[in-house]
Amino acid sequence: MTTTGHPASGESRPKATPARGRFVTFEGGEGAGKSSRVAELADRLRRRGFEVVVTREPGGSPGAEAVRRVLLSGAAEAFGPLAEAILFAAARADHVDQTIRPALMRGAWVISDRFHDSTRVYQGATGDVPADRVAALEEIAVDDVRPDLTILLDVPVEIGLARAAARRGDAVADRFEKEEEKIHERRRRAFLALARGEPKRFVVVDAAQDPATVADAVWYGVCSRLGLAEKD
Ligand SMILES: Nc1ncnc2c1ncn2[C@@H]1O[C@H](COP(=O)(O)OP(=O)(O)O)[C@@H](O)[C@H]1O
Ligand SMILES: [Mg+2]
Repeated sequence: MTTTGHPASGESRPKATPARGRFVTFEGGEGAGKSSRVAELADRLRRRGFEVVVTREPGGSPGAEAVRRVLLSGAAEAFGPLAEAILFAAARADHVDQTIRPALMRGAWVISDRFHDSTRVYQGATGDVPADRVAALEEIAVDDVRPDLTILLDVPVEIGLARAAARRGDAVADRFEKEEEKIHERRRRAFLALARGEPKRFVVVDAAQDPATVADAVWYGVCSRLGLAEKD
């Protein structure tokens, strides 16, 4: 018997019911505006009376936040790309089990700042982990908790990096922020390719526009795809 709330095995993970809440993920490169738009969307939905759980990856549960600190410090880089991907998957499984699934099952909206598409791009398409390994880890970590909608905030790399640098101020860039511009460009293309491959799940928003315009485009995407009236 467990007292931590962790299921004993993959088999015992409860399934999300059809009457569950809505799961929206935000994806895109550094400085695209994900964290800003997530907070605004959550406010807007709360004003409509919905319960909204805002979360992020890597992280989003106490166990996953501990793994986040290891990943973003770069400490896991030395173990190689597969070990790093396995750590992301471990964090995601905990995040799904402890935070996302319980919220969806009580009917809440869950908005996550990054989710599995980031792994497909960072560790898969532009990393060193073969696609079949990425897919296998995703299946284990995500289980049946798939996003209803994914907002891809698309921004030219130089704009995103300039915003991230300005936001950071004097703080040191993390493991991913400090990588070369060329790889950020490849990631941008990989995110766009994912969106083309799953057009029903993705909405791509031009995130180079001013914040209010981007926020309106996000709101329109959420309302039109998930059946909400646009006007309050
Ligand atoms: N559309 C925008 N135009 C100009 N600056 C923006 C825009 N969206 C966000 N920012 C600013 O850029 C920085 C990065 O935004 P943030 O939401 O943290 O991006 P991300 O979470 O995608 O890295 C922040 O300082 C934010 O205020
Ligand atoms: Mg952010």
